Amino acid sequence: MIKVQKGTKDILPEEMALWHKMEENAKLIFSNAGYGEIRTPIFEATELFARGVGDTTDIVNKEMYTFEKSERSLTLRPENTAGVVRSFIENGMHRLSAPVKLWYKGPMFRYERPQAGRQRQFHQVGVEMFGIKDATADAEIIELAEAYLKSLGLNDLEVEINSLGCPECRENFKNKLKEVLKPYFNELCDDCKTRYDKNPLRLLDCKVDSCKEIFEKPEVKAVIQGDFICEECSEHFEELKSYLDTLGIKYSVNKLLVRGLDYYNRTVFEIKSNNLGSQNAVCGGGRYDSLVGNLGGQDTPAIGFAMGMERLYSLMKSEGNEQLDVFVVSTDKKEALKLVKYLRDNNIKTDFDFNGKKFTKQMEKASKVAKTAVILGEDEIQNNKVSIKNLATSEQITVNRDELLNNI
Ligand code: HAM
Repeated sequence: MIKVQKGTKDILPEEMALWHKMEENAKLIFSNAGYGEIRTPIFEATELFARGVGDTTDIVNKEMYTFEKSERSLTLRPENTAGVVRSFIENGMHRLSAPVKLWYKGPMFRYERPQAGRQRQFHQVGVEMFGIKDATADAEIIELAEAYLKSLGLNDLEVEINSLGCPECRENFKNKLKEVLKPYFNELCDDCKTRYDKNPLRLLDCKVDSCKEIFEKPEVKAVIQGDFICEECSEHFEELKSYLDTLGIKYSVNKLLVRGLDYYNRTVFEIKSNNLGSQNAVCGGGRYDSLVGNLGGQDTPAIGFAMGMERLYSLMKSEGNEQLDVFVVSTDKKEALKLVKYLRDNNIKTDFDFNGKKFTKQMEKASKVAKTAVILGEDEIQNNKVSIKNLATSEQITVNRDELLNNI
């Protein structure tokens, strides 16, 4: 039997309600904030990612699905910021009045070791904003991420922010970091040894225990926790923090947060959940003020984020979002059919027992799959009434049929 490929998954009909919710809420919330949807191709020139995402990153070095056609090297997109930037440049969007706001959703491909929350084909929903350097843009982006997550019923998440500074202050930091780590070089893991020369900032992202211990040494920690960013970058970061406070967004500063893509400067952020195991980031983003210029466009500041939809899905599922609003429990199948249709016509997610099983069996099923049972027993049918049972609290009331909608 031919099976689905390792690290890929079918999304089945019973999962679709939550996928549609993710997609519909994205459209609603992002378009309310002025973002237009963009759909870029799933494959692009390999060079776009090598130059865009960065040739020292794991994504470019180890994880790309690259193939050749007509002597061109093509790659399935591992992320969508580079593709959106290419499109921004190619379609002359710098001529539009700033900010240019775009959102997207779709599959991405990374040849990673599959595990819970990490796939080879996964989906992202994301936004990118072009043309605004001010920290108000950073605040809007983080606020937008939070608003979207809240709309999906996900409230229990942690926002972490950091500032990577500008290329100048970062250079200074990289040198200091290398200097303080030099005596420990031989104790670093193999990946970190490579990072030490190629991209020392990425050392901070290492998950290997022995490396983490080195970062805890007092003199190393002092460099990591020290304020390396220049005055201007620091002012930008302080402004962002004050805007987040104004918006009532809770966050913590994590100086180890460096992100795994090379294009970032100044603000980076991640939103994490405690209920996802080791792959705990649902959202990652940040500012990338040099990318448009580096890919051949006119210098344009930009910031954005992307969220892993499979990770959102598993959180929504564990929070019971997939439940029906109503399960109709009835001794009469015709009455049940009529009531189900009526509720569905009123946009209430409803189902019932097609086989007209015993009342107690139907109630059992209702308490497993729905928030509310709407009960049509003989009494109710005779008197044109319905009983409504809140399945969480077991509270039950009986009302006239025409009062049903007001009481659900
Ligand atoms: P990223 O951190 O690589 O950033 O990915 C963003 C999110 O995609 C992650 O937080 C995670 O939820 C999800 N994700 C990543 N890899 C996988 C995987 N293998 N399986 C399942 N989910 C995954 C970016 O992609 C940037 N383009 C974000 C961005 C947009 N920065 C600025 N604008």
